[in-house]
Amino acid sequence: MTKTLNLHALALGALMTCAAAAQAGEVEVLHWWTAGGEAKAAAALKATLQAKGHTWKDFAVAGGGGDSAMTVLKSRVVSGNAPAAAQIKGPSLQEWAREGVLANMDDVAKAEKWDESLPKVVSDIMKYKGNYIAAPVNVHRVNWLWANPEAFKKAGAKVPTNWDEFFVAAEALKKAGITPVAHGGQNWQDFTTFEAVALGVGGVEFYKKALVQLDPATLNSPTMENVLSTFKKVKSYTDKNAPGRDWNLATAMVIKGEAGMQIMGDWAKGEFIAAGKAPGKDFVCAPAPGTAKSFTFNVDSFALFKLKNDANVKAQKDLATAIMSPEFQELFNLNKGSIPVRLGMKMDKFDDCAKTSSADFVATAKTGALVPSIAHGMAVPSAAEGAIKDAVSQFWNTDKMTPKDAMAKIVAAAKTK
Ligand code: GAL
Repeated sequence: MTKTLNLHALALGALMTCAAAAQAGEVEVLHWWTAGGEAKAAAALKATLQAKGHTWKDFAVAGGGGDSAMTVLKSRVVSGNAPAAAQIKGPSLQEWAREGVLANMDDVAKAEKWDESLPKVVSDIMKYKGNYIAAPVNVHRVNWLWANPEAFKKAGAKVPTNWDEFFVAAEALKKAGITPVAHGGQNWQDFTTFEAVALGVGGVEFYKKALVQLDPATLNSPTMENVLSTFKKVKSYTDKNAPGRDWNLATAMVIKGEAGMQIMGDWAKGEFIAAGKAPGKDFVCAPAPGTAKSFTFNVDSFALFKLKNDANVKAQKDLATAIMSPEFQELFNLNKGSIPVRLGMKMDKFDDCAKTSSADFVATAKTGALVPSIAHGMAVPSAAEGAIKDAVSQFWNTDKMTPKDAMAKIVAAAKTK
């Protein structure tokens, strides 16, 4: 009798172990976070998922801004082999959802109260026809200027607050033998600088009309001409090795004091932090010239694809739950340079750049000066974005192209469907 009972207990135990094992799934995650700070943030995501007993299958496609990652993703989905989660942002989420390949995450979102925990501007982007199809991880501010205070001191220059001051500082840095502006070689880096100039020179209303509504008259206006000339002038303060350089190597130039400043989103802060540098001491974060009262946002999110295997579906839902948890939002964003997207988070562990970003995010949402970043896939459909990005980059890279030529190209590009 006792023997039989023991055997039963043994069998039950084995069954339970099997059940637990069956619960553990695999999550393949596509992302492009391969630079220093980015990789640390991605590792935080991996650790969070593994802590739930699941397996993380890394699907990293290097290339800042994610253009290469998106190309690889398309071929995987077309061949019927989508990853569980992929870093997809902004209007592209709607484009993917329309293809019918994304999973409905409403059960997770309801249980975890996502509607109450997210700013509406963000939850709207995460939903397709009212259902959650993606989970957001952060809010990056794109309109930042990163400066090396030692280099500025050496040049006797002051961190600029508008574009006139920017060129005064750039001249001084140049005279001191320091590369004024660290810049790299991909078109999205040109586009990132362009949108900062557009916001700083043209202002919020211009930015919205030109780069969110794609209004042809605004894209072909004297203000746009002025934006383009200012943008091109920035190029004359970059070094001749910029073509082909990755964004994080440009950041490294500022970290080392080889360059004075870089215009880049706050993933650049992740690089400074990963290099052991302290904000306010070793580096300065300042709003991009002329944009102190506005905020260009870039929300990273993971779209969740439809899966067949039950254990993997469970792992995917656990990933979505983990992404929105306060613990993960804190750990991830401390490494990434961004701020939590989840509302009501304590900011005491964050540095002053993040605290400024957090306060400005809330303030600009009220004043209407919170604008989506076109260069980072938040403002317009991906086809138009890609075409405008190419036109802007062509202008940056072609010496004899005039602002008027560029405007004509941009107006045509904006019509791309
Ligand atoms: C952005 C992305 C950021 C950052 C950057 C550089 O588009 O939203 O998370 O990683 O590219 O790779």
